[in-house]
Amino acid sequence: MSKVAVVGAGTMGNGIAHVFAQHGWDVTLIDVSEAALAGGLATIRKNVERLVKKGAVSGAQCAGILDRITTSTALEAAKDADIVVEAVSENPDIKFDIFEDLDRLAPKGAILASNTSSISITEIAKVTKRPERVIGMHFMNPVPVMRLVEIIRGQATSDATTATVMEASRALGKTPVVVNDYPGFVANRVLMPMINEAIYCVMEGVATPEAIDTVMKLGMAHPMGPLALADLIGLDTCLSIMQVLQDGLGDDKYRPCPLLRRMVAAGLLGRKSGRGFYDHANQGGP
Ligand SMILES: NC(=O)c1ccc[n+]([C@@H]2O[C@H](COP(=O)([O-])OP(=O)(O)OC[C@H]3O[C@@H](n4cnc5c(N)ncnc54)[C@H](O)[C@@H]3O)[C@@H](O)[C@H]2O)c1
Repeated sequence: MSKVAVVGAGTMGNGIAHVFAQHGWDVTLIDVSEAALAGGLATIRKNVERLVKKGAVSGAQCAGILDRITTSTALEAAKDADIVVEAVSENPDIKFDIFEDLDRLAPKGAILASNTSSISITEIAKVTKRPERVIGMHFMNPVPVMRLVEIIRGQATSDATTATVMEASRALGKTPVVVNDYPGFVANRVLMPMINEAIYCVMEGVATPEAIDTVMKLGMAHPMGPLALADLIGLDTCLSIMQVLQDGLGDDKYRPCPLLRRMVAAGLLGRKSGRGFYDHANQGGP
């Protein structure tokens, strides 16, 4: 396997394209938006140049990484891929449409992976005629730095597909962990209720965001407090993941905190909007 198509050039897609190219894969980066493709390439260039400065890659390797990435606004560009990794917006209808198209356009033997944070892999696989070759490949943000890939097996995902994706993840320098297809998988099932509870603590006046984050950093050795992490992930994304947990597991213990709903309604989304629990417009966030 040597050819990957990455669909979606946003936060996650450009990181995924970078990591594959750095490990020798030919990458086709696909997005509906020319601006997203240009932005994605610029981010990859900046991140690879930072690695050159740190001495982690040579100037020649840097040129090689960038040369291995081509871009397209057409999904047809996935026609030669051995594996496709989809990283478009977290919207089930968009993902179902893309997988239906990819099933028609990508080679019959290609594996179709999704980087979804919470959408059921079984449901995504159902829109294709190759459910045994559909799998979750959940990279963490920022992709070039974080070592985990959560591998999600849908109801029909085959052992062969799982083994191939595990091997590819290890070849990217990552550690794959296999989990089954339940709402939120493992990463967000465990992380999001903690973030949601931290938001309840803010709402109930238990402590300030700074105090809550300091308790979790110094007391639990978390590298980042839950509220700073919520700002990094995006409060809108946190809300939609809590809704997936509540709907999918049918348990009110996953109800999104009303303060989270109110902040999202007010456009306080975290880093991406300049303000969440911290002020990022003035670099005031941690
Ligand atoms: N941001 C995170 O911390 C994080 C972490 C792990 C997983 N994820 C998951 O990764 C996926 C992408 O998230 P993101 O944060 O990179 O989103 P993003 O908004 O930064 O990027 C999404 C990209 O998808 C493109 N897009 C939308 N519709 C498309 C289509 N039909 N065809 C091609 N491209 C299309 C958009 O133009 C945009 O560039 C989501 O499923 C998300 O849940 C995100």
